[in-house]
Amino acid sequence: MPPMNDLPELPADARALCEGAAGLALWLTGAGISAESGVPTFRGKDGYWTVGSTNYRAEELATYAAFSQMPEDVWAWYLYRRGVCRGAEPNAAHRAIAELEAARGERHLLVTQNVDGLHLRAGSTAARTYEIHGNLDYARPVAGGARRSIPASVEVPWAKDRALGPAERDVLLADDNPLRPHVLWFDESYDEANFRFESTLHAASQASLVIVVGTTGATNLPLHIGRIAVQRGAPMIVVNPEPNPFSEWVDETGCGVFLQGTAGEWVPALCKHLTP
Ligand code: APR
Repeated sequence: MPPMNDLPELPADARALCEGAAGLALWLTGAGISAESGVPTFRGKDGYWTVGSTNYRAEELATYAAFSQMPEDVWAWYLYRRGVCRGAEPNAAHRAIAELEAARGERHLLVTQNVDGLHLRAGSTAARTYEIHGNLDYARPVAGGARRSIPASVEVPWAKDRALGPAERDVLLADDNPLRPHVLWFDESYDEANFRFESTLHAASQASLVIVVGTTGATNLPLHIGRIAVQRGAPMIVVNPEPNPFSEWVDETGCGVFLQGTAGEWVPALCKHLTP
């Protein structure tokens, strides 16, 4: 976190919401919080990937349908992204949220759409961090079953045009127990065992403040969290360089604050005022 006196002054309404948040403060983060760590966002120009002569969008490759047709290519895409994430470091916003968890304990919960693992590496605990779209450091059996770490024999830095080698094929795509990336694909549904679906809805129904950072709001569960907050009259603080559905809700309901700017700019200041 930058020294406290370098933090920007929060607008008075945002400060009042933070200092008055006696109950659960629920954070929802998206790719934007990792942008300042150098991890490309989803819907930016790096969301494309070429297999042979075909150019795929992330939304096409991140599907069970694509994996079932070309498992090696889909694995190579995830291993490349894993290498990028492992080469990145948590930034001030990740660190501030981890420090805030230590201070607020059960009055803090983090729901992240990010699969980059940076919140955990910053010190947020797995118990209070729901990775609702999975984590690139893990794989799980295609046939079902618990996630496991990607075997250490699989290289971490991964060149963009690198294909799986025979050893990787053996550990990841063994005939008798093929593994898949531990992520939620676009043609799949949320569940509790892998993605904390019911726990997330429960948290949304309890939150006294919802803070949404760095997401376009393009997926179901995050939007649902926003809808629950609006229905319950729970205020929302939205941090994003651009307006999004969450900031539009804030505008419509007048319940909350839109802080237009980056995570690095606003999150440490929010955490300071949320610290009991
Ligand atoms: N600080 C805060 N927000 C930022 C920053 C920053 N420095 N830079 C960019 N943003 C914002 C963008 O304005 C955009 O609203 O982050 C958001 C990134 O949006 P997406 O790339 O769509 O990422 P996200 O919303 O997390 O995507 C949701 O979609 O593809 C699926 O499963 C994938 O988890 C992902 C989900």
